[in-house]
Amino acid sequence: MFFEVQDLTKTYIHNGHRFAAVDHLSFSLSPGEILAVAGESGSGKSTLCRLICQFARADSGHIFFHDQDTTHVPEKERKNLYHHIQMVFQHPYRSFHPRFTLEKSILAGIHNYHIPCTPEMLRHHMEEVHLTRDLIRRYPHEVSGGECQRAALLRSLVIGPELLICDEVTSALDATIRNDIAGLIRRICQHHHIACLFITHDLYLARTMADRILIMHHGRAVEEGTAEQIFLHPQQPYTKELLSSLL
Ligand SMILES: Nc1ncnc2c1ncn2[C@@H]1O[C@H](COP(=O)(O)OP(=O)(O)OP(=O)(O)O)[C@@H](O)[C@H]1O
Ligand SMILES: [Mg+2]
Repeated sequence: MFFEVQDLTKTYIHNGHRFAAVDHLSFSLSPGEILAVAGESGSGKSTLCRLICQFARADSGHIFFHDQDTTHVPEKERKNLYHHIQMVFQHPYRSFHPRFTLEKSILAGIHNYHIPCTPEMLRHHMEEVHLTRDLIRRYPHEVSGGECQRAALLRSLVIGPELLICDEVTSALDATIRNDIAGLIRRICQHHHIACLFITHDLYLARTMADRILIMHHGRAVEEGTAEQIFLHPQQPYTKELLSSLL
């Protein structure tokens, strides 16, 4: 199995009560597949991303990548994991060092992972995300949100991941460029055969973007299916409620 989450649970304590932000969640991903994870605010989507990327520790359950248990990866072995699993965050400006040009941050990643990336390869990747040399030589505050997010995508792309985790990567952006960024991510993932976990509030975006959609509610997987199954034949009351709120 390429990527699998099995019975994953993460609890927190609020006001003396323990509650599950991620609650016995299970799903799997095939190589190159795009899975959108959709759900309302607080349903546990970011917690799931944090568990996969080792920013938080699961209470129980497992995460497997290429059949290897990556639920708890020791700190010194995480670099190897991040070589294969990359993450793009919601706020592009915050994910870059403010005193580094975008290029410097991107090159730092290439050096850190010892990626054999020639200037020609970098130029090719820049073209893929529609960025120019002039643009990446600027500081984060000198580019637009969409440009900064494309630079974040470029920084992940040059590492050559097999799985890209995108947590609300379009929600801090102007509505007019949301579809552009989502479309770009889809094309890049398809072209390079990169699997993608695309976290979003936006069910319409999930529909255009993903091969499959997983609906989360209170940390649980409520329903999972192709975009067509979810939109045309929803089975669960919560999914129907979510869809009717779009009308
Ligand atoms: N570090 C933490 N400590 C305590 N509670 C937390 C922590 N992180 C998340 N939570 C709680 O876990 C639940 C799930 O949060 P999470 O950020 O995963 O939701 P989300 O689906 O990403 O929401 P949004 O769509 O608003 O980004 C929320 O109730 C949140 O308050
Ligand atoms: Mg979130």
